[in-house]
Amino acid sequence: MAAAIVGTGSYLPQRAVSNRELEKIMDTTDEWIKSRTGIEQRHIAVEETTDSMSVEAAKRAMENAGATAEEIGLIIVGTVSGDMCFPSTACRVQSAIGAKKAVAFDINAACSGFLFGLILADNYIKAGQADTALVVGAETLSKMMDWDDRGTCVLFGDGAGAAVIKRKPEGILSYVQGSDGSRGDALFCQNRPVKNPFVDNKAAFSLDYAHMNGQEVFKFAVRTVPEAINEALGQAGMLPEQVKYFVLHQANIRIIEAIAKKLGQPIKKFPTNLQKCGNISAGSVPILLDEMNRKGELQKGDKIVLAGFGAGLTWGAAALVW
Ligand code: COA
Repeated sequence: MAAAIVGTGSYLPQRAVSNRELEKIMDTTDEWIKSRTGIEQRHIAVEETTDSMSVEAAKRAMENAGATAEEIGLIIVGTVSGDMCFPSTACRVQSAIGAKKAVAFDINAACSGFLFGLILADNYIKAGQADTALVVGAETLSKMMDWDDRGTCVLFGDGAGAAVIKRKPEGILSYVQGSDGSRGDALFCQNRPVKNPFVDNKAAFSLDYAHMNGQEVFKFAVRTVPEAINEALGQAGMLPEQVKYFVLHQANIRIIEAIAKKLGQPIKKFPTNLQKCGNISAGSVPILLDEMNRKGELQKGDKIVLAGFGAGLTWGAAALVW
């Protein structure tokens, strides 16, 4: 018995912002962004929130799967940009869709959030603790960017993707996960400082924004992700040649090209949407998966690899049969 993805959904904010538009508000160029990252535009939340996008993506995934709210026993949202510190985005999704029987919680694994959620759902299902799970990756990263930091803010976008996971004879075959907290400084955003009547902290409270050492993150991804993918493939008894698609976290086209080269696989097996979406952290993989699913690019029996990587540092790869 295994757990399989049986439906997908996604939501992107209405407002698309091109590189040319960014040229007007900061010292950057379309050429710099495109040549360094492949990104041409991103969607930015104006009316939307992490909650609203998660709920919409979840509803679309349930409709695609033919799943009812009553049958969902587990809701996991991977996010670092929830609307509330608490309750969790997952509890808000539960309430909005009326999944009364579900246990719901968020996980913070940054850009690996959807992969980690999927792996957790796989374990719940295999352990008999749930039959049907909803896994969402959702981010409103635009609110966490320092829009004066051109080296970081141009890379990210907002959106949400979701998948319904069910107990099935075949599905997720293997996975690999890893974390290296000692390298957390490469990509971080601080939460509230400790401030209470018992602390001598006169500093005015201000919210932090995302900080990134781009080159460190780049090196980490290119080294770690192919290793994780090869390990997951080895565990599944699968060769890279047998994989139809490698659906990777959409951080940067140069990272994806370098990973394809290391795996010795043609770039056409690595679908991308980063050109129009940018990096949506936990949302990247499920949004791309949903696009592919709705275009009919995923056929029953196809062998697929999913991989995520990002802040933590964290990484994960899963081999599955569609
Ligand atoms: N527009 C124009 N110039 C920019 C710029 C922008 N948006 N951002 C940075 N620059 C400038 C820098 O100021 C620097 O100028 P200088 O040489 O005069 O000092 C120059 O471009 C090179 O900067 P650098 O940071 O060395 O560029 P890079 O080649 O490393 O590319 C990244 C930067 C961020 C594109 C690259 O490191 C990268 O893709 N890293 C991975 C990031 C990532 O994917 N993070 C998320 C993972 S989940």
